[in-house]
Amino acid sequence: MEPFVKTTKKNVLFEVAWEVCNQVGGIYTVIRTKVPAMVEKWEDNYFLLGPYFEKKASSEFEVITDLDDSPAGRIVKRMRDMGYHVYYGYWLVTGKPRVVLFDLESIEKDLDSIKFKLWEHSRIPTINVEHLVNQTLCFGELVRIFLKEYAEENAKREEIYAQFHEWMASSGLPDLKRENVKIATTFTTHATMLGRYLAQNVSGFYSKLPFFDWEQEAKNYGILAQCSMERQAALNAHVLTTVSDVTARECEVFLGRMPDLVTPNGLNVVRFQAVHEFQNLHLKHKERIHEFVMGHFFQSYSFDLDKTLYFFTSGRYEYSNKGYDLTLEALARLNWKMVQANMDMTVVMFIVTKQPYYSVNPDVLQSRAVLNELQETCTAIEKEVGEKLFHAAAAGADHKMPDLNNFVDEYWRLRLRRTIQSWKTDKLPAFVTHDLKEEDGITDFCKRANLVNNERDRVKIVYHPDFISSTNPLFGLDYGQFVRGCHLGVFPSYYEPWGYTPLECVVRGVPTVTSDLSGFGDYIMQIMRDYENRGIYVINRKSQTFTQAADQLADILFKFVRMQRRDRIMQRNRVENISDVFDWMNLRSYYDTAHDLAAKRRKP
Ligand code: UDP
Ligand code: G6P
Ligand code: GLC
Repeated sequence: MEPFVKTTKKNVLFEVAWEVCNQVGGIYTVIRTKVPAMVEKWEDNYFLLGPYFEKKASSEFEVITDLDDSPAGRIVKRMRDMGYHVYYGYWLVTGKPRVVLFDLESIEKDLDSIKFKLWEHSRIPTINVEHLVNQTLCFGELVRIFLKEYAEENAKREEIYAQFHEWMASSGLPDLKRENVKIATTFTTHATMLGRYLAQNVSGFYSKLPFFDWEQEAKNYGILAQCSMERQAALNAHVLTTVSDVTARECEVFLGRMPDLVTPNGLNVVRFQAVHEFQNLHLKHKERIHEFVMGHFFQSYSFDLDKTLYFFTSGRYEYSNKGYDLTLEALARLNWKMVQANMDMTVVMFIVTKQPYYSVNPDVLQSRAVLNELQETCTAIEKEVGEKLFHAAAAGADHKMPDLNNFVDEYWRLRLRRTIQSWKTDKLPAFVTHDLKEEDGITDFCKRANLVNNERDRVKIVYHPDFISSTNPLFGLDYGQFVRGCHLGVFPSYYEPWGYTPLECVVRGVPTVTSDLSGFGDYIMQIMRDYENRGIYVINRKSQTFTQAADQLADILFKFVRMQRRDRIMQRNRVENISDVFDWMNLRSYYDTAHDLAAKRRKP
């Protein structure tokens, strides 16, 4: 797209976020997946600014030791001369962009004066705030210093743009404006602090939305500092954007400004040439999940894996905002329906989130280990029998079928017998895979609803209170592979500015449930009519009660369970076909528009 501002100057963009090289939630996904599309447009004039955390940086960041004489390199050097620890290098993700990471400790000694200045200039109160807020203040100030120095040196030759994400990156933004720093600023909020809190705590949040007093509520919840930072960033940026129409309504009430435009979220979509390739991946990763399920359940009882479906939900632990409450309620109903209908299908529901735990439950680890032993023993026997059978068959002059039993030697017989004996248990399979520090909404519900993996239940629960990564001892899959191996993602959120998790299902060809209160669900309803037929189910949470929504979800799940394999395969094809709509190569244009508008507004 042609920029609004015709300029002969070089265009340079700095994208600033707390989640650069630092995964917390969906904002990390936004910036990380957007990199290739950004680099395509901005080439070498694209930089990301983030906080430096040694442990995280060690796996995602590569230092450029030899500081070049580029404009950004010079400012890094200057800040180091000022006494700050600033890292310059590459973010090791597709697109490999250059990043500047700031060590927050190197400015901590100035925290009091930073706070004083914030109060004096912007009336932002930050006394006695939590550690995280202090860290974001340090980050915001380092970003401000960097950008100011950069603009002073380069604004004559360059049109400089800064794209801020969320309040955690933006405490320095109001002062950039106050000091008239020549940078076109865009502030994108991915939620509002108050929206997140109030949606969790006030019933009927959406109908009450227009009537909330932001300051009063911020004080009630003890988040006045965060809300003020968010508000000041929104009010002082040249352009304000957010990720969905749903959140735009909150901005008006809580931030005092209607967003200039909505910047919907995309992904870096890489599709296979041949359709069957992603279908094959589903099968391959499903086999791994089968292995986990055998290890986890078959010690107690078994069921037909060919008639088993894998559902999952995932995300940070926000029990009602993420719709875990609704999902569980619907699963209890689904279980009842399936038992009543005497179905021979089994649903295994994985709940993947992050909650404090001590360690993986030893019994769960143990059964996984015994299954591995069983598998190894069987493989050894298979090899032995195979070799001996081959020799016997080749040598067999009497034309008789050899007795296979003779081919297994005593050692392996005994080992197999022992493993099988230690395999069976009377205990029910655990419904939580880890030893949690505390019981929570999920464990409470499962116990109350007796959804605790009884043999007769058709819906089984595997609550995994940690994100999934490839080093995980239970699955040995990364998150993306795990998603591919499943049959359905379930995300009927109550508060969800966008919601990446259902979209990540779509691009992997996995049907998904979302809600009309999530930004993604709202967007899909605006751009597509036959979304349900294509494998995106949208739960109506806007005008239905919780119970009605739970019924709707249970009906959808029950219908899904009764589908034939052939229909599931076709539905996966249809849902995967939607992917291109959400490619950043298409959706970046919204950010381009925002940046052009910011540049236009910066000029008097
Ligand atoms: N996620 C992950 N591993 C997991 C579960 C989730 O990496 O085991 C990621 C997921 O891929 C998604 C992000 O966490 O990109 C959650 O983003 P979303 O927008 O759904 O919610 P947020 O946390 O931002 O509210
Ligand atoms: C993919 C594979 C098929 C397999 C199917 C299983 O489509 O290409 O070979 O039969 O997955 O589908 P299901 O929904 O039963 O896991
Ligand atoms: C926020 C929201 C989430 C959104 C993400 C990326 O963290 O909670 O719904 O998908 O940002 O925009």
